Amino acid sequence: MIAHDGHADHVEQNRRYWDDEAAAWHEPLARDHWLQAEPSWGLWATPESEVSVLPDDIGGMRTIELGCGTAYVSAWLARAGAHPIGIDLSEKQLATARAMQAEFGIDFPLVLGKAEAVPYDDNTFDLAISEYGASLWCDPYQWIPEAARLLVPGGRLVFMRYSPLFALCVQPEGSASTTLSRPQFGLTRLDWGNHVQFILPHGEMLRLLRSSGFVVEDLIEVQAPRPTDRDYAEISADWAQQWPSEEIWKARLTG
Ligand SMILES: C[S@@+](CC[C@H](N)C(=O)[O-])C[C@H]1O[C@@H](n2cnc3c(N)ncnc32)[C@H](O)[C@@H]1O
Repeated sequence: MIAHDGHADHVEQNRRYWDDEAAAWHEPLARDHWLQAEPSWGLWATPESEVSVLPDDIGGMRTIELGCGTAYVSAWLARAGAHPIGIDLSEKQLATARAMQAEFGIDFPLVLGKAEAVPYDDNTFDLAISEYGASLWCDPYQWIPEAARLLVPGGRLVFMRYSPLFALCVQPEGSASTTLSRPQFGLTRLDWGNHVQFILPHGEMLRLLRSSGFVVEDLIEVQAPRPTDRDYAEISADWAQQWPSEEIWKARLTG
């Protein structure tokens, strides 16, 4: 893996990657998520009751899920009374989302497109959300200003991604070690050969959100629970019980 801040086009590479990966995300992952009564977030399935990702007044909100994948987050939003729309780059991921919609009888628009340029007018949405979608796979200098454009004044942006500490410690073969693997200065883009991810350090993310018109309301660094039956190739439970492997940002558009 190479960490650099180059500007080569990542979109086509990530589209191919996700079209190839989609089958692995269909069964049983998508259905298990769609079946959930209460939302839970990220690698460690942190319950919504612990982190309050969703606004209290979600009923009636117009929401856009940026990089929706199998769209279970939008399904949870629909069940809570919101009017979701999901956008994703991968036709195959959206095919799974459509199959889940048919199976669960929950319908909302699914748009094939990139979160860096969403085909909706300014001031269309009350909430923009991304759980490891645009928040990880899109250039933050493109997708965060785009989210600001889409939101009404006072609209909310919430997103989850790997932590910068994980990005600093992840080794070229893909697992987090307990030593630093690369410099933080210059960290933006992780090029894995067949896909590209983006993890901006905290100071730069804060400045980007502010310059895009957001006030940051919270940054939750997620700890893996003890005990947990979960473990991942990229992050062990032991690692994530000691250091934050993932984080949730909550911001509000000023105005
Ligand atoms: C890990 S999934 C996250 C979505 C969902 N939370 C899930 O787990 O199914 C990442 C998704 O981001 C999508 N994606 C990657 N780059 C994108 C882009 N530029 N615009 C929109 N979606 C993108 C991928 O196609 C993939 O479906």
